[in-house]
Amino acid sequence: MSTLRREPATGAVTTERSYARVDTDVIAANVAELARRTPAVIMAAVKADGYGHGMLPAAEAALRGGAEWLAVAFVEEALALRNGGIDAPILSMIAAPAERLCEAIRARVDLAVGASWMLAEVLAAATAVGRPARIHLEVDTGLSRGGATAAAWPDLLEGTAEAAADGAVEVIGIWSHLACSDEPAHPANAAQLEAFQEALNVARRHGVVPRLRHLANSGALLALPETHFDAVRPGIAIYGVPPGPAIDMTGLTPAMTLLSRVAKTKRITAGTGVSYGLTHVAERDTNLALIPLGYGDGVPRHASNTGEVWLAGRRRPIVGRICMDQFLVSTGDDVVRAGDEVVLFGPGINGEPTAVDWGETTGTIGYEIVTRVGARVPRVYLP
Ligand SMILES: Cc1ncc(COP(=O)(O)O)c(C=O)c1O
Repeated sequence: MSTLRREPATGAVTTERSYARVDTDVIAANVAELARRTPAVIMAAVKADGYGHGMLPAAEAALRGGAEWLAVAFVEEALALRNGGIDAPILSMIAAPAERLCEAIRARVDLAVGASWMLAEVLAAATAVGRPARIHLEVDTGLSRGGATAAAWPDLLEGTAEAAADGAVEVIGIWSHLACSDEPAHPANAAQLEAFQEALNVARRHGVVPRLRHLANSGALLALPETHFDAVRPGIAIYGVPPGPAIDMTGLTPAMTLLSRVAKTKRITAGTGVSYGLTHVAERDTNLALIPLGYGDGVPRHASNTGEVWLAGRRRPIVGRICMDQFLVSTGDDVVRAGDEVVLFGPGINGEPTAVDWGETTGTIGYEIVTRVGARVPRVYLP
């Protein structure tokens, strides 16, 4: 059992042994900062539980910071936002056949349409509900993921123009997604921009003129102003995590800090093996601290013998394998005690590792590190 204690930064009482502290004022401030970088409206991406930060608090903070729209991956996420009292327009970006489209239309959730089967399902749902569906046509400009290819685009536009004339759909948006915006100098960015402009021209020739054209995610918002159009869809930048090393994050701050408490300490002698597989063997007598978080909480097992945490005023190496619920760090001859605070990652301003540092040591990206923090880890919100 964890014990009642004070949340260190604020003095707020929390009983958590391990927790992700999420500063919602930081999310709001990040959104406000992003809004200063573009004349386009902000559609904040809060999918995947707000990149691990908590979808509803992230959405509320983003709206407070000036976002006018929200984007999620799936209809269930959009419905959860509506159930949570969010009134702002929401775009649901991905669907497979036979989803809860009637509920989505009733809840005024905007639906991405990038295939003729989706258009047919949206039309059927709009007819059943008796209300036009709000759609954003998705065109594939080079990512080869969602959206109609250039070859399929005219057919999708024809079907859409007919449906719009019948009053079954309202075309709110036309959009696409960039493959390489985290590398602003990558030639694919210019090629995708040109393909998007051409797709908009083709749409106009079919009589389909959207209210919102949107292409840019965080990297593009920060580094490619020519991609901004009418709306931008930042995700990772609203949480203060860089999309990539080439993106300048001045003015943006990470919102999440992942903390725990030392659960046990012990001294081991030189030659002693540590954790499953005994993949670490102490070279000299050393103190170990047991941290009660593991891959069951989203701590990557790839951090075994490579990652670092902040403990007792210094970065300390993770020794041995990360287990499901716990892992060990070495503190050398420094003495720490059960209950001492451990920071796995945070903004990095006090010396602690960042989510990007964890990504680098584990072969992934900051996005994955924050998003994978597990459901077992409580989120404690500031302010
Ligand atoms: C279609 C789409 N738009 C916007 C975003 C936000 O991207 P980012 O987090 O890089 O800003 C994503 C995230 O993956 C996405 O899939």
